[in-house]
Amino acid sequence: MVIRVGLIGQGFVATTLAVGLERIKRGEIPPYGVPFQDLLSYRINDIEIVISHDIDEEKVDKSLYEVAKKYFSTLDIPESLSTIRVCRGIHLSSVKDLPIRARGLEDFMSLERAIEKIVSDWEKVHVDVIINLITTEHTKPLTSFKELETKIHNNEVNNLPATYAYFYAAALYANTVKPLVFVNAIPAIVAKNTALVSKAIESRILVVGDDGASGATPLTSDLLEHLAERNRYVRSIVQFNIGGNMDFLSLMNPTRNIAKETTKSSIVEDILGYNAPHFIKPTGYVETLGDKKFVSMHIEYISFNEAIDEIVINMRINDSPALAGLLVDVIRIGKIALDNEEYGTIYPINAFFMKNPGPREGKSISRIVAYQLLIDWLLKHRALKKVPRYSVYTLEKFEY
Ligand SMILES: NC(=O)c1ccc[n+]([C@@H]2O[C@H](COP(=O)([O-])OP(=O)(O)OC[C@H]3O[C@@H](n4cnc5c(N)ncnc54)[C@H](O)[C@@H]3O)[C@@H](O)[C@H]2O)c1
Repeated sequence: MVIRVGLIGQGFVATTLAVGLERIKRGEIPPYGVPFQDLLSYRINDIEIVISHDIDEEKVDKSLYEVAKKYFSTLDIPESLSTIRVCRGIHLSSVKDLPIRARGLEDFMSLERAIEKIVSDWEKVHVDVIINLITTEHTKPLTSFKELETKIHNNEVNNLPATYAYFYAAALYANTVKPLVFVNAIPAIVAKNTALVSKAIESRILVVGDDGASGATPLTSDLLEHLAERNRYVRSIVQFNIGGNMDFLSLMNPTRNIAKETTKSSIVEDILGYNAPHFIKPTGYVETLGDKKFVSMHIEYISFNEAIDEIVINMRINDSPALAGLLVDVIRIGKIALDNEEYGTIYPINAFFMKNPGPREGKSISRIVAYQLLIDWLLKHRALKKVPRYSVYTLEKFEY
């Protein structure tokens, strides 16, 4: 069965996802970077990207093929992407400080009408999964869904994050068309927001979020677990990233940077049980680094007999493929949950794939532990064809 995917924000990650997916489907490349490769009940080939929304005038009304050519000029871009169109989305000033010529639907109509237009775009192509990949946004806590409804009704275009407008559109879609997965791969607070998760349950939406965990933060979380399990006392953690893509440029804005720092730093106290002094945030933009960011990490800790040890790691990581590969599984696992009529948000899915896993009380745990929780969830849902070799579980235990 086909899983029909709509993208919001046709930037580096969304374009890498679209291109990589088509190349895997054509048998051109192996599915490296996709954790569950051919082990899930849904195949990678079942995924079809059917629509995209953006607000950049350079992308709106172009095909994914044309957009992909700009990002990967030397690659042979799959022709199949030429049938997928980038439609105009809702801007709500999300890129106002960036060198992007942006216009949203709300520049031509009321916010209510703009949201209805998004719903009708999705309805035409029957989306099952929506992935929010817009520029990082800082969101103020929402106290109720009613508050969001009122802001939209009053056309408060200067006082609303775009993510919330898209979530509202998802709720309308789920209420009137069919259940939906809403993946919030950015640091905006959705899966961690109780009011939005309650609305998701009522409307038959599964929210996966918040903020995809792809680069240095999952590795740091695994190292912290390693130290915690051995009762080594962490004295300090430094983890910084410097990159040259648009996401890094956008993170030079202090409000956005705080949003990212919040999701990245949640691992420290959650895993160690104490708040070791730390500095974990994106720290710089150097255009020539492009998508391949430079990450440096330093962890100092006290070992037996008061010995002081240090871990020092330097990495160059391709930023966008790291998240795009995970999204291939988020799409399939989200659809499995939807097939089982599970709405709201599911911690074992979020804990592995997301930096700041919902629901509100969901702690950040190491990815090694989260992986086992996820396998357990998948086995209970009869969604694995085979148990990966890194699992502590066996199929027999679940009597397939
Ligand atoms: N490894 C990673 O790259 C990674 C990891 C975790 C989270 N993320 C998050 O994913 C998001 C996307 O990252 P990216 O590197 O692709 O960024 P990008 O800047 O390349 O792409 C963002 C895209 O969103 C579009 N956009 C902005 N506001 C929009 C709106 N209101 N409606 C529709 N489109 C809008 C922009 O025009 C752009 O095309 C960021 O929020 C980032 O924090 C990325």
